[in-house]
Amino acid sequence: MKKIIIANWKMNPRSRQDAMNLASAIKFGIETRSVEIVLCPPFVFMEKVKQILNQSEILLGAQNVFHEIKGTFTGEISVPMLKDSGCEYVILGHSERKRYFHESFEDINKKIIAVLKSDMIPAVCLGDDSIIAKSDKLDGIEEQLGIISRNVPKEKLNKIIFVYEPAWAISDGKIPSDILPDSNDVLSAKLLIQKFLASVIGKKKASTTRIIYGGSVNTKNVKNYVGKNLMDGVLIGGTSLRAKEFIKIINIVENIKC
Ligand code: PGA
Repeated sequence: MKKIIIANWKMNPRSRQDAMNLASAIKFGIETRSVEIVLCPPFVFMEKVKQILNQSEILLGAQNVFHEIKGTFTGEISVPMLKDSGCEYVILGHSERKRYFHESFEDINKKIIAVLKSDMIPAVCLGDDSIIAKSDKLDGIEEQLGIISRNVPKEKLNKIIFVYEPAWAISDGKIPSDILPDSNDVLSAKLLIQKFLASVIGKKKASTTRIIYGGSVNTKNVKNYVGKNLMDGVLIGGTSLRAKEFIKIINIVENIKC
């Protein structure tokens, strides 16, 4: 299975020009053929970033979408609009969307169904929403999986990328490394998600579903998260805004034997 690295630029950078510079530094700085790379800029920069990414293998993603196709939903962006912008991936249910915009798992479920209908790929965030890690770090994941998978056609469930993204682990560089999840933590999350998937779509299909990790990933810790019995990739926030470090992570992931 091809590993995937998703760059979540969040509400950065400041201008179209900065977004284009970042995208082109990444495009011309990488050689990879074996890792899938997805850049998710803010909506207003997507078109310009897509122009930069043309003739490269880097794909375009969005950070959110609304589930309705069109209509009176001021401020929202639809799935067909994203498709028309050349977007192929959509991050859904990021913990910041839940924390600041009160998105529920029921909302995320509707968005997943809409995105899958259009043949784009949803990267769906799961995990403990509290700001401070609890002793049971996997708290709530099974319930979240149950809600987000409701009415999702079974044959499409393994198209979803599941992102284990505990809210307490997010924030580029500000969380002490001994608090961050370790290899065992991410593996436990992966096994839990796989177990759920196996119960719905069978073991074989569950094992072909991509499960990745997000939260303070950097050049020093990425090896703790990606690998043979670990995750199939990473979702990167802060570090993805620094082209050199981001490229270094890509090179590290590319050299990890699976
Ligand atoms: P971070 O963001 O890498 O800055 O912690 C991760 C995320 O968006 O999930």
